[in-house]
Amino acid sequence: MKFIEDINVDNKKVILRLDLNVTIKDNQILDDTKISKSLKTINYLLDHNCKVLIMSHLGKIKTEEDKANNSLKIVCAGLCELLGKPIVFVTATRGKELEDAFNNNNIVMMENTRYEDLDGKKESGNDEELAKYWASLGEVFINDAFGTTHRCHASNNGISKYLESGYGYLIKEELDGLDPIVNNIKRPFTVIMGGAKVDDKVQLIKSLLNECDNLLVGGGIANTFLKASGYEIGESLYSADYIDEVKDILNEYSFKIVLPIDVVVNNNDNISTIDSKSVTEGAIYDLGPKTLQVYRDILDESETVFINGTIGLYEDERYNKGTIELFNILRRCNNIKIAGGGDAVASINTLGYQDAFNYLSTGGGATLEYIADKKLKCFEE
Ligand code: 3PG
Repeated sequence: MKFIEDINVDNKKVILRLDLNVTIKDNQILDDTKISKSLKTINYLLDHNCKVLIMSHLGKIKTEEDKANNSLKIVCAGLCELLGKPIVFVTATRGKELEDAFNNNNIVMMENTRYEDLDGKKESGNDEELAKYWASLGEVFINDAFGTTHRCHASNNGISKYLESGYGYLIKEELDGLDPIVNNIKRPFTVIMGGAKVDDKVQLIKSLLNECDNLLVGGGIANTFLKASGYEIGESLYSADYIDEVKDILNEYSFKIVLPIDVVVNNNDNISTIDSKSVTEGAIYDLGPKTLQVYRDILDESETVFINGTIGLYEDERYNKGTIELFNILRRCNNIKIAGGGDAVASINTLGYQDAFNYLSTGGGATLEYIADKKLKCFEE
């Protein structure tokens, strides 16, 4: 796959796949990192006199209600503001309105590519007819959607089969920024894994355990690991369907996995820090100070650290102390520190710890798969 600068894009009609899958609450974009990181490629194309058709997914579309809740319209408004230029928004993903808009305007954004999933998963299933149709709209395809490079969908992998294709500045930045945890990793290499659910991460956790020296666990994932270790976790969030798989992981990799030894529990609005083996009632929302001490000793000894997900419910002040202490530890550590994934990056931005990291990746699953497999799937198949 060529870099954008190695393709003649002058005066061409360019289809640009971005990852504008941001979290929206009450009609507000909560974190615009993915949008602002897309500007360089858009501006490069406009400077080269291109007509640009922007494509992105937003959320997952399985029902009409998902469609109503995942329109890219708000994202388009956010992008217009950051770009300082108008963008024509087309409410369709194919058809005359889209084709005319792209013929007659410099920048067009079309609706969520995954609207095509409602009718036979055409986008996510990499439908050939859809990919050919989208490709027929332009002359060059630029993929700058790093966050979806672990997917082979019609709008990233499919189109690239029918047009001269390349990758943009964000993907280049990500490959450079992630290089220390993909190639020639300095060891010990420690991964901190948080987030609500184990569900879609089980395979990745296994792959990461082959790559890393230590896995420090937090968030709902830690609850599932504690439960699989045979401890009571009260009413804490955990992934019941994955207990057996997590047991297998613990059996095989117990020497690398470090679980919390104390946790912050809310029991009927009574918040206390207790031993992680004694949670019979209430729910776990944060890691305790003794756990952070253990994690600190390991992080101090590590040469490279990668964090994905959040280790506590940091949005609530009652449960943000573990996250703040972890970030303070990382700020003091003199090693390579990289974070990946929307939630991890949002927690770092919200609490103001950007300076504690060498690189913040826009990719969640994409970054984890890149570390584990050392390739970007959408460019391979
Ligand atoms: C992300 O937010 O990680 C990317 O946009 C990919 O989203 P997906 O997991 O819905 O494919």
